[in-house]
Amino acid sequence: MRIAVISDIHGNLDALTAVLKDIDNCAVDHIVCLGDCIGYGAEPEAVVQRIAALGCPTVLGNHDAAALDPGVLDWFNTAARRSMELTMRLLSARSLRFIAGLPETIERWDARFVHGFPPDSVWRYLFQVSPEEIDEWFTVMPERVCFVGHTHRLELVSGDGERRFRAGLPPGPVQLASDLRYIVNVGSVGQPRDGTPEAKYVLWEPECDRLVCRGVPYPYSAAADKILRAGMPEIHALRLLPASWQENWL
Ligand SMILES: [Fe+2]
Repeated sequence: MRIAVISDIHGNLDALTAVLKDIDNCAVDHIVCLGDCIGYGAEPEAVVQRIAALGCPTVLGNHDAAALDPGVLDWFNTAARRSMELTMRLLSARSLRFIAGLPETIERWDARFVHGFPPDSVWRYLFQVSPEEIDEWFTVMPERVCFVGHTHRLELVSGDGERRFRAGLPPGPVQLASDLRYIVNVGSVGQPRDGTPEAKYVLWEPECDRLVCRGVPYPYSAAADKILRAGMPEIHALRLLPASWQENWL
């Protein structure tokens, strides 16, 4: 069995389309989405409808939560708040109903799926959690693996309560150890912040205990152009581009 775990699409339909094509080519059995379908990108409505049409298990992200309760926009920085205000004008009632039905966590295949940090936080970043709390979580977590998003950076944290290992998740396959538990940050499809522009996601093969990190190229400047044309903050357009393009792009 092969499961694709995608997260943080952030209204970037070009990135999502490329990732779904890659998933098609990888003979995937299931897709799970870790939330933040909207915010930053210019096509939130199309992204939500595409995810809804897939019918894949999907959890709530913090930007999705902000669409349901604009009061939490006070917690966002100025650019993210501006982007969400414009995003709200682009979302249909149908998409808001879909978002309102998303759970904060899903447990399946001896794994947990949550946007921020287990057991069910939509808001906590993995980098905010102390090493001691991570150790404690490894001793009590009922599932073997927990998949998170939210930071937009790929990361693999493993341990057993006494030992702890923490590393980036490089492109390609990673074999898991049967005596450890794992928190896997799958990065971001539509707004990566790991220094490379490709849309990131992770394939998980539970039966052979293997992860494969995928980085998928897509038309970066087309997606960035759409953000500018929608009047959304240019910082979120620039972040989509390879570093060498950014200086002369605007
Ligand atoms: Fe996000």
